[in-house]
Amino acid sequence: MPKVENSHIKEFGMYGDTTIQSITLLNNHGTRAEILTYGATLHAFCIRDKNGDMHDIVAAPQNLEGYLQQYNEVAYYFGASIGRYAGRIKNGFSLGGKFYRLGEEGEVHLHGGEQGLHNKVWTIEALNTSEAKVVLSCSSEHMEGGYPGNLKVYVHYELSNDNALKVKYEASSDEDTVLNLTNHAYFNLGKQSILNQQLCINSMQRLELDVTQIPTGRFLENKDSAYDFLTKQPLQKITQVDGFDDVFVLDETNDDHPKVVCSSEETGLQMEVFTNQRALVVFTPKRFEGGYPMKNEERADAQFPALCFETQNFPDVPNHSHFPSTVLKKGETYINETVFKVSTLSTQV
Ligand code: GLA
Repeated sequence: MPKVENSHIKEFGMYGDTTIQSITLLNNHGTRAEILTYGATLHAFCIRDKNGDMHDIVAAPQNLEGYLQQYNEVAYYFGASIGRYAGRIKNGFSLGGKFYRLGEEGEVHLHGGEQGLHNKVWTIEALNTSEAKVVLSCSSEHMEGGYPGNLKVYVHYELSNDNALKVKYEASSDEDTVLNLTNHAYFNLGKQSILNQQLCINSMQRLELDVTQIPTGRFLENKDSAYDFLTKQPLQKITQVDGFDDVFVLDETNDDHPKVVCSSEETGLQMEVFTNQRALVVFTPKRFEGGYPMKNEERADAQFPALCFETQNFPDVPNHSHFPSTVLKKGETYINETVFKVSTLSTQV
């Protein structure tokens, strides 16, 4: 394990006998991102708002105890890197003529299960503080969590001087496997509930889900529904359906255009999300229910305290032949690249 010593690395807490570190990336404008080695988690993303105040747009627990405690209460997967399969798979999957069961018959497996990447301590592979870049890695052994292949995953977090945070996952396996990674950061661009903020999602369709949130295989049109965010809409609209935990289908082309634009008039902050992924899960919990301290406590106590933009492939792909494949062939490289770019009204053109 390469040992990286740097003033940008601090001790965040102890996970059993292992020290969890926090890595700070800082750009020329004082914008700061903090990443934890536990789950390769995005813990904070702080940027100056229109009033000149530093504003942390990531909602998360204050300390490591909170991050760990959520898994005994309500699992929010705060800021974590999710795999081997982000989202749900029913029963398991067939690959190369073999069935890989994930849990009990009829069970819906979520976010890679208990042995998922969110619960691993990742290794700092490289840190370049002048360029505000860090690379972390983790391994998942053959059949860990039920998945074939020894898997190696790298995540690159990179903060540019135009306040764009790139999160890029690269992975490869020594056997054919299925893979679907994402980052599970909760964002809030304002100081209160997200409901008084605005959202635009460049998506015409979403997946129809059954009561267990497994896709039926059908696509639903977003137009003229509570899910129509093709033009900028007040987020208040999500209350028509009690919030979102939905899979939006993204256009394959136009990767240079944001798939999401979210903004708050109160802070003047706007975030654009760019990705090479085919789906976006928008998850808007109604409350954070945990009994542990959160950062920015007043905001975290609000109704609809934050939202996730999980860029990934569709759920349960291995059981739907018409969905875009999640097979990662032996020796090939998986790449999921997502950019969260923040600007303030005063710097917007
Ligand atoms: C995803 C899922 C949700 C929920 C959250 C974590 O968004 O789709 O149902 O599991 O992760 O709480």
